[in-house]
Amino acid sequence: MGNSDNANVNDLEAAKQLDIINQLRIRFDQEFEKTGKRRTYHIETFGCQMNSRDSEKISGILKQIGYEETDSEKADLVLYNTCTVRENANNRVFGRLGYLGKLKKSNPGMLIALCGCMMQEDIVVDKLKKSYRFVDIIFGTHNIFKFAELLQTRLESDRMVIDLWKDTDMIVENLPNDRKYPFKAGVNIMFGCNNYCSYCIVPYVRGRERSRNPQDILEEIRTLAADGVVEIMLLGQNVNSYGKNLETPMTFAGLLIEIEKIEGIERIRFMTSHPKDLSDELIEVMAKSKKICKHLHLPVQSGSSRLLKLMNRRYTKESYLELVRKIRAAVPDISLTTDIIVGFPGETEEDFLETMEVVKQVGYDSAFTFIYSKRTGTPAAAMENQVPEAAAMERFDRLLKEVQQSSARSAGKDVHTVQKVLVEEVNTQDPSLLTGRLSNNLLVHFPGDMGLIGKIIDVSLEESKGFYYMGKISPAATITG
Ligand code: 5AD
Ligand code: SF4
Repeated sequence: MGNSDNANVNDLEAAKQLDIINQLRIRFDQEFEKTGKRRTYHIETFGCQMNSRDSEKISGILKQIGYEETDSEKADLVLYNTCTVRENANNRVFGRLGYLGKLKKSNPGMLIALCGCMMQEDIVVDKLKKSYRFVDIIFGTHNIFKFAELLQTRLESDRMVIDLWKDTDMIVENLPNDRKYPFKAGVNIMFGCNNYCSYCIVPYVRGRERSRNPQDILEEIRTLAADGVVEIMLLGQNVNSYGKNLETPMTFAGLLIEIEKIEGIERIRFMTSHPKDLSDELIEVMAKSKKICKHLHLPVQSGSSRLLKLMNRRYTKESYLELVRKIRAAVPDISLTTDIIVGFPGETEEDFLETMEVVKQVGYDSAFTFIYSKRTGTPAAAMENQVPEAAAMERFDRLLKEVQQSSARSAGKDVHTVQKVLVEEVNTQDPSLLTGRLSNNLLVHFPGDMGLIGKIIDVSLEESKGFYYMGKISPAATITG
């Protein structure tokens, strides 16, 4: 199918889903007239920002149908949007499902739905079918747009509804959406991943890489800007390879240039970047941009070139360090963060020390550190020399110390300067304070009026507290947004 045929199929699908949403709306409005009560839902999201974004879409559908959100699991519909990137994420879901099953016994009308990456694994679904019969709806990462239809099917029958797709080309646009914040929003620019890092299950559960059309992305961002959004986060497993599979190919840097032109958008963030695809063109665009935030998440995973090869990362320690050098030369005040795995099969003490060395050399502002988790079906799971857990834990502790030292060294470097801050919320600990985010992603707390939430203002950073600042609104504050 060509791209335009795809567009037709996708539009028809969107129309069909909107029709089902309307039918359900009528049904629940009638129910509300009779009972005076709206049905409630609760969504629990595990994992990454992709999942958070997907949950907003599901939430949008439910609100449009007439459900009301609640923060308790004692709801008419409870949905878990799951993650499977590491084994313990799966265990957590099964643990909590036991509790949900008990809740359902005392509230038989309750519906339980499961979706997300974990559902794309056959072993998980087999286990659910066998031992968790109380689950009502199971769907995956490729058919979220069908949620209203699946709910309708469940309401009309008593059976477990399972709809799982192995992969898809479909990108269904213009369905409902429920944003968590009025002033900032995540925007998917691509789905899936083609990189097949040898430890990673994502390409198997999120499917082949496919990019959204630039027109659709730009239109969505223009609508968001018109709706008061000032900061956007562009989302993809590997944003640097954006646009390669489009009918008219476009680079990620090219897309950023177009987004920069949209009036009202003040800040642009993106994640995740794969070092192998981060181009000189992108570095140039970042250096020139007035809107792209001074923060880059650049997962290194390991500092050993030998291990990077086994991980199928397609860069070396040297090329990664060279990339960091180029980025720092072009954007001197950029904050760099990363992901690191310890205990990958065959990791020796020497390999590990190279990772420690890279952490020292780069001086990350922060890093997410993970103990390697064996994911069935990935090449690394079948590798020999799996590292014993005790050794991995011991390295993990050493790495964590190194990372903490590295972030302590970079923390506080902007103290006594005035910075632009997006005011995000009233401080959760002290309601006389507001909490805002700097371009480099660090937080600052300062006294102020909650009317400033959603605005970008100048804040003077008075004191560094390590991973955040205390500040005060700069007298010459310019207020935008
Ligand atoms: N074990 C441990 N960490 C993993 N990640 C991905 N797969 C695994 C795994 N099998 C980490 C990587 C990735 C982050 C999102 O999760 O560091 O960048
Ligand atoms: Fe997983 Fe690698 Fe794809 Fe990231 S780039 S999602 S680590 S396969």
